Amino acid sequence: MFSERTRWNLAENRLSRALAELRASGQAILDLTRSNPTECGFSYDEKRIQRALAQPESLLYQPNPRGIRSAREAVSDYYEQQRIPVAVDDLILTSGTSEAYSFIFRLLCNPGDEVLIPAPSYPLFDLLADLCDVKLVRYPLFYDYGWQVDFSALSGAVSTRTKALIVVNPNNPTGHYTSESQCARLVDFCAQRPIALIADEVFLDFCLKETRAVSLASANGVLTFTLSGLSKICGMPQMKLAWIAVSGPAHAKTEALARLEVIADAYLSVATPVQLAAPALLAMRPAFHAQVLNRVKANLSELDAQLSWQSACSRLLCEGGWSAVLRIPAIQSDEDLAIKLLAKVGVYVHPGHFYDFAQPGHAVVSLIVPQDEFAEGIRRIPAHFSG
Ligand SMILES: Cc1ncc(COP(=O)(O)O)c(C=O)c1O
Repeated sequence: MFSERTRWNLAENRLSRALAELRASGQAILDLTRSNPTECGFSYDEKRIQRALAQPESLLYQPNPRGIRSAREAVSDYYEQQRIPVAVDDLILTSGTSEAYSFIFRLLCNPGDEVLIPAPSYPLFDLLADLCDVKLVRYPLFYDYGWQVDFSALSGAVSTRTKALIVVNPNNPTGHYTSESQCARLVDFCAQRPIALIADEVFLDFCLKETRAVSLASANGVLTFTLSGLSKICGMPQMKLAWIAVSGPAHAKTEALARLEVIADAYLSVATPVQLAAPALLAMRPAFHAQVLNRVKANLSELDAQLSWQSACSRLLCEGGWSAVLRIPAIQSDEDLAIKLLAKVGVYVHPGHFYDFAQPGHAVVSLIVPQDEFAEGIRRIPAHFSG
């Protein structure tokens, strides 16, 4: 009765089972994977948010498939404030970046076509690709005093079915930004084939580097789709508002926007109240950014302090975003190790394989976990290896 594409293995994995059992037994767990900003103790201006959502025009239904103009203007202003030119008419609003990916896959790919994704990266892509009958092909990143694209492996990953390349900038969980020269190389790489470039920039604003992060939102050398949204930028995933900024050669861009408009028109999925609230919600982001950056910096320095007295564990360079990658002894699979950390010291981390690390010996922790909980959890990890 069901489609092949939904023939998933729905059994709980061993780590989720171990976590559920521990929770059911009432044991306290220090959850270092917490990354839902609405549950990490940040303060939001509740009254202002409620006012923004309660505008009388919300009672009218006048759908615009690209998104209500005032909301797109607010997004265009967001880019303008960072000196990135993105025209209001080059934006399509969606209910999340996940939906944005689906729209773009539907726009570009026939069943079985391929999209290149970085490894390691965020695990969301597999499911989205399955749902759109798209085949993902991984291109490796390598770590050498920071993360780099392996361009020769990238060339080897391209086939006649390749339709697009995804770059996550900064990447989740590695927290590295694509440098200006690597952005230029990626644009050239795509333009030569030609394939489209999809830039996921949901964490762009959370930069720990001195130098400004480079965005691909106004890249013109190839058809480019840049994704972001309120989920991370404003710490409001519950609002369900994101966008696609389309850039590139004029003809391709116009055609892509016209077709995306039809896809968006089929669903009209972004609710009116949040679109009307978008200018006010985006204007609130500096307060959220300040809290996140304080938290991330405090947690990183706590992490470094805890790691400084031992040599079993270390952390990889992190330029931004909300997570840190730990190098841990590769004495067993990362999943076994995560289960052991849960059972022995009550600390929950994500195993590296969850994010497609090529080698074992990695664990990922969220840097927006409240500070006390983070400090206690982190203290127990190296202690586990030296105890
Ligand atoms: C890199 C990356 N892209 C996209 C998303 C999904 O964002 P949204 O809530 O807008 O669908 C996430 C969520 O964690 C993410 O880490």
